[in-house]
Amino acid sequence: KVTPEFTRNLPKAELHVHIEGTLTPELRFKLAKRNGIDTGYSSIDEMKKMYNYNSLSSFLDVYYAAMDVLQTEQDFYDLAMAYLHRAVKNNVRHVEIFFDPQAHTTRGIKFSTVINGLYRATVDARALNIDARLIMCFLRDLPRDSAQQTLNEALKYKDKIIGIGLDSDEHNNPPMKFYNQFTTASANGFHLTAHADPDQKDSIEHIRQLLEIICVDRVDHGTNIVEDPDLVELAAKRKIGFTSCPLSNTFLNADMKGKEVLELLNKGVKISIHSDDPAYFGGYIADNYYAIAQKYNLTKEQIVTLACNSFEASWISEEQKALYL
Ligand code: HPA
Ligand code: ZN
Repeated sequence: KVTPEFTRNLPKAELHVHIEGTLTPELRFKLAKRNGIDTGYSSIDEMKKMYNYNSLSSFLDVYYAAMDVLQTEQDFYDLAMAYLHRAVKNNVRHVEIFFDPQAHTTRGIKFSTVINGLYRATVDARALNIDARLIMCFLRDLPRDSAQQTLNEALKYKDKIIGIGLDSDEHNNPPMKFYNQFTTASANGFHLTAHADPDQKDSIEHIRQLLEIICVDRVDHGTNIVEDPDLVELAAKRKIGFTSCPLSNTFLNADMKGKEVLELLNKGVKISIHSDDPAYFGGYIADNYYAIAQKYNLTKEQIVTLACNSFEASWISEEQKALYL
């Protein structure tokens, strides 16, 4: 039987975690104090009462508002370091962390402040025996020009960023909006991934664009690909990684999507389990594994396959993968 200890002790790769989504109310409160920012809340408990959401857009409202407290390079370092310590406790051996520079540059924070703080934490975390990399995401609800400017900044930090992702509000913001930016990023050696949130009405079309035209390496969420067997076959053949987040799905989609995960697992798709925004969805990666194992009666063998998939879909070198698998 799968126990919480089993899911915690299993070596894992975390491929879908937004660093801003690891900002706990406690750290938010502390940083507000340190930076002399008025959050409008007199206590952590009062702040926590606002953590109410049942859709992507209602979640994003709370998520973006919380980030105001992130001001200095040290703030970004502390945020990432606090997360990395938790990841180590979850036996995460390798993590590819999303960050959203536009959520900060649009508030007047410099790109360099964000990347230098986060990157320094990934370097210091090597002493904790965890390999951490950074994936820069475009906010898909901002104009293409803003993504291009952000990409121009990222090109100056090529050695500190492993790939490019796409997140935020998907409605009317298809992947093809950023076709030129993805193409430039790929030509510059970045790996590519993008969110395809469950329950988007154009989801299949968005996944098709990602697999057939943009040629991403991974799709974040994307589990409703099951509606299109031809696309599922293509994804399996090309070993495209799919990163599903059970607790996030439970909050935002009122469905853990375990049926879809099992179907993709059975069809040989490289699907794995991740945490998305752990400070907002009530659990870190081991909790996500345990939640789906419990609800859908997964065997230990299935859990191990999901964890192996997380390393196989990661962007570490083949030699490094061999050490984990
Ligand atoms: N979807 C889209 N954008 C996001 C998410 C998500 O789950 N988390 C943080 N930004
Ligand atoms: Zn996400």
